[in-house]
Amino acid sequence: MSLLTVDQIVSGYGDMEVLHGVDLRVDPGEILTIIGPNGAGKSTLMKTIFGILTPTAGAIAFQDQDITGLSPDRVVRLGLAYVPQVENVFPSMTVRENLEMGAFVLRGDLRERISRVTELFPVLSKRWKTHVGNMSGGERQMVAMGRALMLDPQLLMLDEPSAALAPNLAATVFERIEAINESGLSILIVEQNAKDSLRLSDRGCVLAAGLKCFEDTGPNILANEDIGRLYLGGE
Ligand SMILES: Nc1ncnc2c1ncn2[C@@H]1O[C@H](COP(=O)(O)OP(=O)(O)OP(=O)(O)O)[C@@H](O)[C@H]1O
Ligand SMILES: [Mg+2]
Repeated sequence: MSLLTVDQIVSGYGDMEVLHGVDLRVDPGEILTIIGPNGAGKSTLMKTIFGILTPTAGAIAFQDQDITGLSPDRVVRLGLAYVPQVENVFPSMTVRENLEMGAFVLRGDLRERISRVTELFPVLSKRWKTHVGNMSGGERQMVAMGRALMLDPQLLMLDEPSAALAPNLAATVFERIEAINESGLSILIVEQNAKDSLRLSDRGCVLAAGLKCFEDTGPNILANEDIGRLYLGGE
């Protein structure tokens, strides 16, 4: 049984249709990377899955529950977390406050969740009282992922987690993504650093012009010459 099933989704902004019937499946425990050119609709797909945009046709199921058209606060409670491509932290708040905001829909003791997040991101516990606006891009990305993990999700969606990061920081982010996956979460990634992301992915797919046009295992996509030339910057 798949964890997330996207079935023939049509979505966009007002009169502008961006996704023209997209299918997608994420299995339990896997990392799936979506690659594709700028403007293909990758972020639109994530926003639609998370309920920020409402699809005009098609269906989305999470853990066998129909979540089509549910609002983000409902989706998040079901165990689906999302780190947007931009504006994914509260810059005027401290690291601790950002993590607490991540769990605002939960009641009760946050300490256990905070300690799980700091186990995955030890760097954050040293910067506890730092305002996130004063942190580097790499550290902010850790805060953003940590915030999403505060809800103890089953599926984590990351939109361009390594965008605008120096190569060594991008490598750290990918290494942390693998550690998160090893702790049992499924992960759906949209990435410009497609090769790095596909290397740690079980499967990948290509989204172009609002349609899914290719899908295979991570290694097979990396080995595919046509995909390499078109979407992975050649070699
Ligand atoms: N808020 C918005 N309002 C109107 N159109 C939008 C909005 N956001 C994106 N679009 C348009 O929708 C299309 C798909 O955008 P989307 O952000 O999903 O692409 P993407 O694949 O994530 O691209 P990128 O790789 O640049 O992040 C583009 O034509 C874009 O201009
Ligand atoms: Mg995008």
